[in-house]
Amino acid sequence: MAELFLPANSKPHKGRTIDVANGAKRAKSFHVYRYDPDDKDEKSGQPKNPRMDTYVIDLDKCGPMVLDALGYIKNEVDPTLTYRRSCREGICGSCSMNIGDSKGTNTLACTKPIEDVKGDITITPLPHMPVVKDLVPDLKHVYAQYTMIEPWLKADSPAPERERLQSPADSEALNGADGRGPAGCILCFCCSTACPSYWWNGERFLGPAILLQAFRWLIDSRDESKGDRLDMLDDAFRLYRCHTIMNCTQTCPKGLNPAKGIAEIKKMMVARQ
Ligand code: SF4
Ligand code: SF4
Ligand code: FES
Repeated sequence: MAELFLPANSKPHKGRTIDVANGAKRAKSFHVYRYDPDDKDEKSGQPKNPRMDTYVIDLDKCGPMVLDALGYIKNEVDPTLTYRRSCREGICGSCSMNIGDSKGTNTLACTKPIEDVKGDITITPLPHMPVVKDLVPDLKHVYAQYTMIEPWLKADSPAPERERLQSPADSEALNGADGRGPAGCILCFCCSTACPSYWWNGERFLGPAILLQAFRWLIDSRDESKGDRLDMLDDAFRLYRCHTIMNCTQTCPKGLNPAKGIAEIKKMMVARQ
């Protein structure tokens, strides 16, 4: 049964405030989720509740994106702050988190301008995922689901001497004329963690990120395993727990359309009956 409220030991408490802005004109407050499983309560021996720390920084001292602010905080203010990042260019998908006012949106910290959020900025990990530490979600389960769809080319026909070719039209189906085809997915999981159905059924429903990847292999003209791939997805939970709520498409920071990909898989299921 899905839990609608955070358990008591997961509720964030108010944390510290560290003000290093010195009254600067462009001072801004960042409320950041902090959780350290090694920081244990002396009496119970259990990890302490997460807390929201507030950092007040001078925006003239950091770059324009939320990731720049986190980098400034980590390098200059509090080296214990933990988050993932790699490319800084919206390509690797590592820095996904929930950013915004008190409501927040799942997005990439490296491409989210600080200026987009009026007032204080609240930053928490991607929702409905176990947390490893601070802003780092545990991605073991989603990657296990990714493995299930066998995200590699499967073909029994002998490999050509050089490479398996693809027509420009077939390539465009994967990449999209505007670069927003399913192959543009960076596996940031902003979509899956914004999907209510994935929140409640994530153990068995594959969620929009993984289903978009499944779709990407189903439409790859070089792949020869369409039947097997559809067999694997033909399940009341894996595919059909998508109820077309569309949060996934609305939140994708790369402008992709996982909900449409899922709808196309459902059409393939009907067509083969
Ligand atoms: S369209 Fe489907 S996958 Fe996307 S948010 Fe809605 S239920 Fe989830
Ligand atoms: S579809 Fe978009 S939001 Fe979902 S994992 Fe891919 S890039 Fe991220
Ligand atoms: S750091 Fe790679 S997408 Fe943000």
